[in-house]
Amino acid sequence: MEKNIEHIKSEALSELEGASDPEAIKAISVRYLGRKGIVTQFLRNISSLPAAERPFAGKRANEVKKELDAAVKGILEKLASEAQRPGDRIDVSLPGRVPARGSLHPLTQITREICAIFTRMGFNIAEGPEVESDYYNFEALNIPKNHPARDMQDTFYVSDNIVLRTQTSPMQIRVMETQPPPVRIIAPGKVYRCDSDLTHTPMFSQVEGLLVDENVSFGDLKGTLTAFVHQMFDTKTALRFRPSFFPFTEPSAEVDILCVMCRGKGCRICSQTGWLEGLGSGMVHPAVFENVGYDTRRYTGFAFGMGVERIAMLKYGIDDLRKFFDNDFRFLRQF
Ligand code: DAH
Repeated sequence: MEKNIEHIKSEALSELEGASDPEAIKAISVRYLGRKGIVTQFLRNISSLPAAERPFAGKRANEVKKELDAAVKGILEKLASEAQRPGDRIDVSLPGRVPARGSLHPLTQITREICAIFTRMGFNIAEGPEVESDYYNFEALNIPKNHPARDMQDTFYVSDNIVLRTQTSPMQIRVMETQPPPVRIIAPGKVYRCDSDLTHTPMFSQVEGLLVDENVSFGDLKGTLTAFVHQMFDTKTALRFRPSFFPFTEPSAEVDILCVMCRGKGCRICSQTGWLEGLGSGMVHPAVFENVGYDTRRYTGFAFGMGVERIAMLKYGIDDLRKFFDNDFRFLRQF
């Protein structure tokens, strides 16, 4: 008899252990402790036991009833509190969550690489305002008001005499105004043009370069840019200087670099020409030196300006400019 109640108890407990929701627990409770439950029946049948066994069996059965009651309540309470605070459930066996790690935007990486190459050659880095005066952005660079050269750049005007800089070239003037030669700077930064299509975005990035000293020649310009391209790409990447026009340089040259995709054979990227437009450059125009008070008989200099997006597209083989500005993680994660 006594064995029997212990058996009932262990069966009830193992059933409770296997149940995971309140409904199942309640059903088990009814089956054992309800009006017609197994434990209740057991208690009722005690009167039919031999008199000597009755007191002990009754006492033990009542204890078991209380124990099972408490077990049911305990499990129900635990389930209820877990449901209320799911965040408190800690599974210590789960692997930890690795926090997402950020990375530098490809344009930032390329800008830094460009700056690193030029600083190794002795250039200093200069930075200046993106909201610029008409004077620095145009006039001091030998681009007077109403000059047709202004049509080369679609300008965002803030007011009559304030613009969003269309180029980093105003940094040439800002630097030369504050120091006498020799000058050797590069100026990375954002520039803005009222232009938006497949190959143009209203904001893009440039790096400007300026070197002024005695006896600076076009050969120095060629040597410096060749050294740059060889480090940025590789020593097989040839350069080609094409005569061009910029108001602030004379002579001016556009620098093409050998197509990094087809190595000059001609492909889709270079429109079958074998060459890619790389940057603008030239010898600083004497009118620019006059605007900053430099002695044009003693000093000469060269300047250049390159588009960072363009360099990045060539370096990484990216064919769509817009990818830089979409902030699509699938793209950005690759760098
Ligand atoms: N500022 C020119 C542009 O945005 C690029 C340029 C050309 C910069 C020639 C220079 C230069 O310094 O010498 O189109």
